[in-house]
Amino acid sequence: MKKEIIIVLDFGGQYNQLIARRVRECNVYCEVLPYNTSIDRIKELAPKGIIFTGGPASVYEPDAPSCDPAIFSLGIPILGICYGCQLMTHLLAGKVSKAPVREYGHTQISVDTESKLFTGISPDTSCWMSHTDYIEQPAAGFRIIAKSASCPVAAIEDSERLLYGVQFHPEVAHTPEGTRMLHNFLYQICNCSGDWIMSSFTEEMIASLREKIGDKKVLCALSGGVDSSVAAVLISKAVGKQLTCIFVDHGLLRKNEGDEVEEIFTRQFDVNLIRVNAQQRFYEKLTGVTEPEAKRKIIGEEFIRVFEEEARKIGKVDFLVQGTIYPDVIESGLGKSAVIKSHHNVGGLPEHVDFKEIIEPLRSLFKDEVRKVGLELGIPEKLVFRQPFPGPGLAVRIIGDITPQKVAILQEADYIFREEIAKAGLDKGISQYFAVLTNLRSVGVMGDERTYDYTIALRAVTTSDFMTAEFARIPWEVLATVSNRIVNEVKHVNRICYDITTKPPATIEWE
Ligand code: XMP
Repeated sequence: MKKEIIIVLDFGGQYNQLIARRVRECNVYCEVLPYNTSIDRIKELAPKGIIFTGGPASVYEPDAPSCDPAIFSLGIPILGICYGCQLMTHLLAGKVSKAPVREYGHTQISVDTESKLFTGISPDTSCWMSHTDYIEQPAAGFRIIAKSASCPVAAIEDSERLLYGVQFHPEVAHTPEGTRMLHNFLYQICNCSGDWIMSSFTEEMIASLREKIGDKKVLCALSGGVDSSVAAVLISKAVGKQLTCIFVDHGLLRKNEGDEVEEIFTRQFDVNLIRVNAQQRFYEKLTGVTEPEAKRKIIGEEFIRVFEEEARKIGKVDFLVQGTIYPDVIESGLGKSAVIKSHHNVGGLPEHVDFKEIIEPLRSLFKDEVRKVGLELGIPEKLVFRQPFPGPGLAVRIIGDITPQKVAILQEADYIFREEIAKAGLDKGISQYFAVLTNLRSVGVMGDERTYDYTIALRAVTTSDFMTAEFARIPWEVLATVSNRIVNEVKHVNRICYDITTKPPATIEWE
């Protein structure tokens, strides 16, 4: 069954994925496409509506991202946000002007509630502004439907041509009635019916996987992370034992994690699971290696080798599962940013496995949607809401070379930290929290004895996108308990530090 679709045209703004997530939260499927997507492609997709995102450019810059003005004559409703609104005005011969200063932050606006975009919105409402250029004169056919003290044209509409624009960001939480505005655009203006619901996604995906796979064999690399787990369970529900999962324990997992994964997939889901205890192999390859990128590369490559060897034992398979999710496949058309760390995820593509085709059942989903599907499938909450864990595991949380002893120290310290955070009821409010084993040793005193032991750093951050992060304001009492327990219960640790840097300039992981 073909779903209705909204297209989000990406002009490079920082909130683009958020726009798409908001639309989907309103039960309408949408996809983010580069700003230069051809009109033919757009026609082919036959969207119910189009949203132009914001972006950092000014419409007057020579290389400013633009689009074919024919888009305004397709009869498809369009909502322009910030840069998107300016571009629409510019291309339709209205006047966009340069402001000497940027308008940024919370702003009160008064809106015309007669406009379908603002049905049910308070006449005076708050929004989040972030723009330099502004609209001095809307294009012919448009009327002004919102203004603020310093922005005479905060929103515009041409209700004949179904073209709408806002100078502010309805998608961010700082615009309290923003989701309602997007909802209005989708349901009042685009006439969407709201057929994007996770329970039907799950059912339809299982049925379509069953049909696609038939009686063939499927292979999946299971990491215990949310994505590969949900992908594996979806396929297992579709074709049962035709699926084989390979779970490589590289010895760099958190305490008890390997056993927990095995337990869930063999007891609860009765999946064909091969657990490979490859700890020794990884430790050997990593001996004496201290450079962070080198560690990452070694683990990524070794993982693939182990996986291939196991796969070879199984022989020919028809399909290989990948836990790819939507943010991995969105292409902005605006060029790539610098590589800070090379991410190696369990599930990277092996070169020497004999398979015919890749299946990516989660390719269209955002992370929060993957979680919803996980819950639909009955995967335990503990796994579904698991905090992110890097593919190279504890290797990037042990500064310097890796030894089995250091891994054991870190596992214990990390376990205590996580246990105390959960006990204090802070686990849901912190995006990611873990311990790091620094390669710093210092002098301490225990009883009457001098010690010369390791320093553990605790890292805990709050973030919505993992691109920027704040350090979490954990109460001193909780930190005191954690510190006390770690130095008492974990041998070879005599000092604890709390990392109070934001990202940027620091990254979340230490390596
Ligand atoms: P950084 O350290 O770059 O991390 O601020 C941002 C987020 O990415 C996670 N991370 C990884 N995830 N494979 C992954 O799947 C990796 O190699 C990797 N390295 C970092 C990190 O835990 C944080 O959530």
